[in-house]
Amino acid sequence: MSSLWTDDRIETPSSPDDVDRVRTADVVVVGAGITGLTTALLLARAGKKVVVVEARHVGACATGNTTGKVSVLQGSKLARIRSKHGADVLNAYVTGNAEGRDWLTRYHEDHGLDFQREDDHSYAQDASGIGTARDVLAACREGGVEAQWVDEADVPFPFSGGVRVRDQVQIDPMPFLGSLITELERHGGTLLQGVRATTVAGTDPVRVRLRLTDTPQDTRETQFAIAAGHCVLATGTPILDRGMFFARVEPERSYCLAFDVPGDITRSMYIAVDSPTRSVRYAPTPTGDKLIVGGAGHTVGRAGHPKGSVEELARWATLHYPGAVQTHYWSAQDYHPDDEVPFVGPILPRHDSVLVATGFNKWGMTNGVAAALALSARILGGRMEWAHAFSSWRAHELRGIPTALELNLKVGLHLVNGWLGASAHGEAPAEGQGVVDGPPWRRRATSVVDGVQRTVSPVCPHLGGIVKWNDSDCAWECPLHGSRFAPDGSLLEGPATRGLTGS
Ligand SMILES: Cc1cc2nc3c(=O)[nH]c(=O)nc-3n(C[C@H](O)[C@H](O)[C@H](O)COP(=O)(O)OP(=O)(O)OC[C@H]3O[C@@H](n4cnc5c(N)ncnc54)[C@H](O)[C@@H]3O)c2cc1C
Ligand code: FES
Repeated sequence: MSSLWTDDRIETPSSPDDVDRVRTADVVVVGAGITGLTTALLLARAGKKVVVVEARHVGACATGNTTGKVSVLQGSKLARIRSKHGADVLNAYVTGNAEGRDWLTRYHEDHGLDFQREDDHSYAQDASGIGTARDVLAACREGGVEAQWVDEADVPFPFSGGVRVRDQVQIDPMPFLGSLITELERHGGTLLQGVRATTVAGTDPVRVRLRLTDTPQDTRETQFAIAAGHCVLATGTPILDRGMFFARVEPERSYCLAFDVPGDITRSMYIAVDSPTRSVRYAPTPTGDKLIVGGAGHTVGRAGHPKGSVEELARWATLHYPGAVQTHYWSAQDYHPDDEVPFVGPILPRHDSVLVATGFNKWGMTNGVAAALALSARILGGRMEWAHAFSSWRAHELRGIPTALELNLKVGLHLVNGWLGASAHGEAPAEGQGVVDGPPWRRRATSVVDGVQRTVSPVCPHLGGIVKWNDSDCAWECPLHGSRFAPDGSLLEGPATRGLTGS
């Protein structure tokens, strides 16, 4: 499974010698997605010695598997922020995101990178969604986003009216990440790939402990440490439990499909504000424009049968674009914050040596850049006027407490259910399937993929959740905080820093 953006890329992990050479830095940035690399570049441009540590490869998680819309409209997000926080936070959120969009767009212009300016729409599929779409329009007006109501659109799928914001942007994220790295290295920065941060200890300096990702066991030859003034965790969800961000965000996975389409392709960007979510854009490629559709989202590890929802998404696309031929399938996850606005700042109040950025809720093309602007300003001693809306510790967070309690009640239920719920009966699963079986004191997770049967422990090394099989991606997912593992147990993403052990 590779996204349209990462297809055909060959990644080379750093060698032990490369890692061993780096012992100190002003700032260690963990994670080479849009947030980490933009933060790293901004700091390197200001003269800081920056090292970026990436567990897998550049763009491995959300950024390389995004839909790539760079827009301040963002589905129904603005309406939800307005209803939870009011005008002040809404305005600051919009200002930060507009700044993120404009920085990214300028970067593309200045570096000769391809991008498209297109109108974006948040629309209702039927009458039941019109109220939400109208709320989006009201939020745009209050938040200073120039928006119009449109009753009709030139699209082949059901459209019952919606909000249009002109001249937003769409990108291919990988050339952008590639250019950030080139410029980072020109400013003396270092990127280490295939190197996982496992812990961060101390304050002045912080010591970031590292391990070569693909080594089966920890030895002195595969473990390293870097001492730094600051560490930025740009890891999707923070990998450290301090600050309990894993309990303040909900991991949500969504799926994207790319198609060759005969005839006209939809030119503007669209996302439905009612269920089921449908996200649409086109993407130029050397062989012509492709249609991208996204949707079928679910909380990680809690969907019964994700493959069914993805098939339904594909049927929707071919129904409305007859003759469409699917060429790509991919998926990714992002983190929904309990009070709707991202968490960007110190991992603990007044603990500025370790900083986090999470909770972009599938709008990180603008939020990730905004986070980078806010974090780099903070490290360099400045401040963004709008950054209070993104604060990792904030007064208005009290409003998120009921949602956080609800999230954690669900987490508790999944923990108990995983350990004590009914288990499968010990038969080998069918091709492409995985089952958890055995008594609570000896649970086993068995899967069969491409004819290979593997059995691993189903106990998530983060905080002990019992993993569940995702039949669309053929991966184990933890229903508690969203860690994900390959069939052989190796760690893919999430707050865990180790894989599943052998059974
Ligand atoms: C399906 C989908 C579609 C989306 N579409 C859009 C869109 O159209 N527009 C938009 O604005 N946003 C969109 N988003 C959201 C956006 O893609 C993300 O918010 C953004 O990419 C997050 O970037 P990031 O750099 O913070 O995290 P990531 O890109 O996830 O990067 C985190 C990196 O950290 C690395 N890492 C993790 N743990 C460690 C460790 N211990 N040591 C070292 N490295 C580690 C990971 O390997 C990863 O490369 C979408 C999200 C999804 C899931
Ligand atoms: S991700 Fe937290 S217990 Fe699995």
